[in-house]
Amino acid sequence: MGEVGDEFHREVVRPAVLELLAPTPGQRVLEIGCGNGGFARQLAGLGADVVATDQADAFIEAARAAEGPQVDYRVVDATDPAQLADLGAEGYDAAVANMVLMDMPVLEPLYRALAELLRPGGRFVFAVIHPCFGYGVQPTPDAGRAGDAGPRSEVAQVLWTHGYAACGLLAKASS
Ligand SMILES: C[S@@+](CC[C@H](N)C(=O)[O-])C[C@H]1O[C@@H](n2cnc3c(N)ncnc32)[C@H](O)[C@@H]1O
Repeated sequence: MGEVGDEFHREVVRPAVLELLAPTPGQRVLEIGCGNGGFARQLAGLGADVVATDQADAFIEAARAAEGPQVDYRVVDATDPAQLADLGAEGYDAAVANMVLMDMPVLEPLYRALAELLRPGGRFVFAVIHPCFGYGVQPTPDAGRAGDAGPRSEVAQVLWTHGYAACGLLAKASS
């Protein structure tokens, strides 16, 4: 993927995520699963102070080698509570994860850590593949009946379990 991503990232993911994230100059933003760092540099170009993380050394090396606004790139496995804690308590105004959560084997460590990493009132914005494509969908036995246990996407369900309030949802249909 290049600096600005493919059409899906350019036209759908990044505009929707930016709208929800609404970064303002000087805000501290943590990116989870930054890949080659293209979106992190876009945020830094808007004046945010960005810490961008990925579990893959090769991606972080490529991100560090790229030209562009200053970003603090770090190798972090977002399933590892200790590595997440090292990012610093209450250090961030916002966190973002673009097309990452559906690839992670466990989400609880990240959701727990974000509650500590974000400042009070901080926001977490993520984009995932729509569950209709089969990512993270775990049908519950009572789905659609009385006593339905709630959202059936694992991504949504773990958030719900930990008391996160969903305050924004953007979905864009392709024409
Ligand atoms: C589909 S790519 C998306 C990259 C980038 N966010 C973007 O939108 O271009 C998924 C990224 O998540 C990273 N990733 C997957 N599991 C991870 C984990 N446990 N911790 C940190 N990064 C992870 C991968 O290394 C990869 O860079």
